Amino acid sequence: MYSLGEFIIKNRDHFPYSTESLLRLFSSIKLASKAIHKEVNKVGLTEELIGSSGVTNIQGENQQKLDNFAHKAFIESFKSRNVVCGIASEESKDFIIINGKKENLTQNQYIVLIDPLDGSSNIDVNVSIGTIFSVYLRKSSIKMNLTINDFLQKGSQQILAGYIIYGSSTILVFTIGKGVHGFTLDPSVGIFYLSHPNIFFPEIGNIYSINEGNYANFSNGIKKFIKYCQEKKENRPYTARYIGSLVGDFHRNMIKGGIYIYPKTYSSPNGKLRLLYECNPIAFLTEQAGGKASDGKQRILDIKPTQLHQRTPFICGPINMVTKFEEFIMNNNKSS
Ligand code: AHG
Ligand code: MN
Ligand code: MN
Repeated sequence: MYSLGEFIIKNRDHFPYSTESLLRLFSSIKLASKAIHKEVNKVGLTEELIGSSGVTNIQGENQQKLDNFAHKAFIESFKSRNVVCGIASEESKDFIIINGKKENLTQNQYIVLIDPLDGSSNIDVNVSIGTIFSVYLRKSSIKMNLTINDFLQKGSQQILAGYIIYGSSTILVFTIGKGVHGFTLDPSVGIFYLSHPNIFFPEIGNIYSINEGNYANFSNGIKKFIKYCQEKKENRPYTARYIGSLVGDFHRNMIKGGIYIYPKTYSSPNGKLRLLYECNPIAFLTEQAGGKASDGKQRILDIKPTQLHQRTPFICGPINMVTKFEEFIMNNNKSS
């Protein structure tokens, strides 16, 4: 069974940049995710990890103690490995510059965007949560300061993206643009082993995942699509599954076959999910797993971002299911 390190070395030709830098990137990701795994497994034993940190983050959302722990764990871990020059996080209003040592400047070329803890509302009730990450090469010269444009790159420019799901086991799933692979943490030795090679969406899915509590706020196109999912015809009705953790909902849908929808609503016209550190990395994985990711009209990875924390409607899943959703939106254009 391959460890993640062995897998990277074996597949080094698939990564156009230095193997050493990729190993360092993964070393940071593994270190922080193991620290979070340990904390997540202690939730319930101590008040220190449960509930709000008392801070409202840039999204206007109540930051949980574990959000804060995960944010710090990743920042510290990336700092220590001399491979990243800048990080943008859901939990920080502005991007964070990492000033590497002068002798390391040429290797500190990577920009990381991260949702340190996804699905925070599920922490206290032992439901799967995750971390989502997205990596780019910096665009500005290493002689200059980083600028916001280093972070506002189209999703199609990502060189690495993935997530860690802290569920019944802890699994790291990623793509470097050559398929999607999953590695399960063996906590007894602290090593991630290849458990899910070449993950692909099943061609025919039968799950739909959407927060139907927002039904009254959906456009006609979305309402009709939901009715289509529930109709008794062909391989429908689909089954409804919604956790409220993007990572958990996506992981299940990619393996079992299903469409995930977080659309715009009348009260949130841009949707809820954040383009740069939630939708883009999941969209990259989706396409690499043979699926399609859309905002209802266009490809997520083609959107040119204008703000660090911008939101977008998000639909991803097997190609035929997402295309069908887009048809419903198009055919009900006036009200969509
Ligand atoms: P986060 O915990 O990082 O703020 O993300 C929460 C997101 C995402 O994980 C999930 O899919 C979505 O919020 C659920 O939203 P609703 O509760 O509105 O369905
Ligand atoms: Mn999130
Ligand atoms: Mn989060």
